[in-house]
Amino acid sequence: MTDVLSIDLHTHILPPEWPDMKGRCGYGGWVSLEHVGTGCGRLAIDGTHFRDVCSRCWDPARRLADCDEHGVAMQVLSTVPVMFSYWAQPRDSLDLARHLNDHIAETVRDHPGRFEGLATVPLQDPELAVGELERSMGELGLRGVQIGSHVNDWNLDAPELLPFFEAAERLGAAVFVHPWEMMGRGEMPKFWLPWLVGMPAETARAACSLVFGGVLERLPRLRVALAHGGGSFPFTIGRIEHGHRVRPDLCATVIERPPSAYLDRLYVDSLVHDAKALRYLVDLLGAERVALGSDYPFPLGEHVPGSLVRSMEELSDAEKARILSGTAREFLALDAAAASAGESPSIAGAKESPR
Ligand code: CO
Repeated sequence: MTDVLSIDLHTHILPPEWPDMKGRCGYGGWVSLEHVGTGCGRLAIDGTHFRDVCSRCWDPARRLADCDEHGVAMQVLSTVPVMFSYWAQPRDSLDLARHLNDHIAETVRDHPGRFEGLATVPLQDPELAVGELERSMGELGLRGVQIGSHVNDWNLDAPELLPFFEAAERLGAAVFVHPWEMMGRGEMPKFWLPWLVGMPAETARAACSLVFGGVLERLPRLRVALAHGGGSFPFTIGRIEHGHRVRPDLCATVIERPPSAYLDRLYVDSLVHDAKALRYLVDLLGAERVALGSDYPFPLGEHVPGSLVRSMEELSDAEKARILSGTAREFLALDAAAASAGESPSIAGAKESPR
């Protein structure tokens, strides 16, 4: 296929350092980053090791070197979900979110055309979350927000969260839903099951809540994308549809149309690691709903972003181009932003793809 400069919708970034939240707030539970040598870091929660990370997490130059090697024109930056901190006092979560969002905005500003950013917000307090979303979309120039698949005891259809989704629609903020705090993790500590089983289930939980809870119905212009190809949601849509039909007393409490009627309201990323699964996603949703996402720089991600899409002979060049960049442009409203700024909608500053 011809060269397509890709946009990677699903990448995570951390600042090289952030405030000592325990010292600042007087209670624990916060994530800290300890630098343990050149290019290495250790994430810990209250001193307990969580994950080793490398400088790709925080060094834009190293990220861009990888992008140039892999033909990625632009990364969309979002925080690492463990940083959501929805469990904390809302003002303290806001404090951390502001720091993370300022860092993402600064990284975007310092490398024009190479990065766009998604904010994080203290969703446990929807009013504070709306305020930070407004700041992020206005002053900071971010393109939307990354949120968790649930917020403490709330699923995404919680009435408390509706003002937040209304604000996202009003502000034109793209909403990227990422699984976190995986259900059942306490019961399946072995075999990395929270990541391999829990994450896809979390994403289906989020999708079903948005569909059945009427959030997509009420907010026709809200743009939502699901990580990891939508998790188990696309593969179980037949079951979900059947359930809605046979037990309307249990399922159809808010919406009248079947769940499949909302499939064209959801975007997903391409991170499924399997050609047959990606083919199914394209059949189900259309290439116009699938956006390249790699989960850079983490090991469960696609190590050469876009390699699966590029390898699939059954996809046309137009479908590949759409997945590699067109869908993200639409989801993030990049062309509208460029037009309002009087710029060309092409990706500025990007180097030519090596392939
Ligand atoms: Co991710």
